[in-house]
Amino acid sequence: MRSYTLKNKNIEVTFIERGGQIISIKVPDVKGNIDDVVVGYDSMDEILAGDGYFGALCGRYANRIVEGKFEIDGEKFQLDCNNETNHLHGGNDGFNSRIWAVAPLTSDKFVQAYQLSLTSEDGDQKYPGKLDVSVIYGITEDNQFVIEYEAETTKSTVINLTSHAYFNLGGAGKASAENHKLQLNASNYTPISAELGTVSGEIAPVAGTPFDFTSPKEVKVACDTDHEQINMINGIDHNFVIDGSDGSVKLVGVLADPKSGRKMEVYTDQPGIQIYTGAHFDGSETGKNGAPIEACAGIAMETQIFPDSPNHDHYPNAILKPGEKYKHVCIYKFC
Ligand code: BGC
Repeated sequence: MRSYTLKNKNIEVTFIERGGQIISIKVPDVKGNIDDVVVGYDSMDEILAGDGYFGALCGRYANRIVEGKFEIDGEKFQLDCNNETNHLHGGNDGFNSRIWAVAPLTSDKFVQAYQLSLTSEDGDQKYPGKLDVSVIYGITEDNQFVIEYEAETTKSTVINLTSHAYFNLGGAGKASAENHKLQLNASNYTPISAELGTVSGEIAPVAGTPFDFTSPKEVKVACDTDHEQINMINGIDHNFVIDGSDGSVKLVGVLADPKSGRKMEVYTDQPGIQIYTGAHFDGSETGKNGAPIEACAGIAMETQIFPDSPNHDHYPNAILKPGEKYKHVCIYKFC
């Protein structure tokens, strides 16, 4: 398994060709101590045998599509359901499990960059159209880790690509991320339905709910509330609706660890961001630093279109047509 490292004078990002999986991001704290801030494993054997979504590129449709069904121009499609009754992260053989072609890229924008490419054939996981995907991982002078996605299709299809790293700014495997403070420029979120196992189709205000992160708040404070949306999945596994999303890249959220002083800003042009506190981690797996991976070991901040968008006309468009270009920028900036 080939691995690649991007670095500037402060931070270092390492990924592998399988799934473009980010296996470490090393960042100094305020005193200059370096820690690896993404949840994962200590050895390559464990990485290859472990959770294949950790730090990975997810697609063709990241997140859930109810019962794997959608329609384009009256034509019905049925994807495999790999998550109870739903389709999740592109199916059983999603982009996270593919070997991507990786090549160094020279660009004025980046201190160092790589381009990852993948062709998903027509009918791959039962999606229509041959999809050519390019993802650039770049690192800038001012500590931005930039992910730029592009894709083109030969037939109308649905698409939603994302990156699935769980961040723990105190150092993965050192302590829980539950005391991290999260702030999101999101006045609304998409509540989930227990019956559907994902979004109900609603867009609801966060005001007066644990999902109000419009000012910085400890993640634990939200997860400890007795709110039905929190109880349903033992934490946060929700899509937030970015305020004023207009296709330009803007600051959408900030994650901060008061203890180490590390802070990460998230910028995107996408209309949504899935925040996932890792409720399904139960300590049965050993991760970095030899520590069990427990719920809230890290927090995923996945920029994206909304879950199940293809089935909700009032959600953002997730259909890509031939001749169009899917574009998505996600920036994790370490401050
Ligand atoms: C989803 C979770 C899911 C996890 C799998 C996240 O993006 O929001 O519901 O369990 O991916 O790794």
